[in-house]
Amino acid sequence: MKTGLFGQQLTLMEELKASTFPAHARLQTAPYFQALAACQLPLESYVGHLRALSGLHGVLEQALESCPDQRVASVWNRDMRRLPRLLQDLRYFEPRAVADLKEAAGAALKIAESLRLRSMEQPLSLLGSVYVLEGSMLGAVVLRPLYARAFLLTGQEGLSSLYDDGPRFMSGGRSFSSA
Ligand code: HEM
Repeated sequence: MKTGLFGQQLTLMEELKASTFPAHARLQTAPYFQALAACQLPLESYVGHLRALSGLHGVLEQALESCPDQRVASVWNRDMRRLPRLLQDLRYFEPRAVADLKEAAGAALKIAESLRLRSMEQPLSLLGSVYVLEGSMLGAVVLRPLYARAFLLTGQEGLSSLYDDGPRFMSGGRSFSSA
């Protein structure tokens, strides 16, 4: 277990938060989010993002479901799947025949491959990915209205993956403390 600035012992959640803090700050200023805030994000970028995430969630969720490690099972349950909502959003945009972004698809494939490898070699480390993807739902509250404004979306149309109504660990449903 790691210690904080004052030598106090950090919980796993605190450790995850502290170690991803710099990456989160960088992400918030990424050109993608700047363009989104300025209402200048191309639809291809959002749909490319959804496609990339659906590939990652597909691999991750399958690996989590078949993971024999009890510590993983104590955090993960099927209600936390996001793939069905991502696919629902992609179906919403299907009639618009949005072109693929090769770079995004290539990068997502690489990450999916490394997730597959980790699921075999270090299955417990998959919980780090669960933390990042689940944690990103906290920011979704901020991002939803920006996507809705940029692409003139109403209700959950094309945005359902940014809503979550299940019992999730970030909102206290399940916890990393037992893992
Ligand atoms: C401009 C884009 C983003 C904004 C405005 C944003 C905003 C936020 C906000 C408001 C929180 C809650 C902070 C708190 O309650 O202390 C949060 C937490 C979090 N976000 Fe983001 N976020 C963005 C992008 C992302 C992305 C792309 C990811 C992942 C790939 C991500 C991962 C996380 C994680 C893991 C947490 C949980 C931190 C914790 O443990 O409290 N965020 N974000």
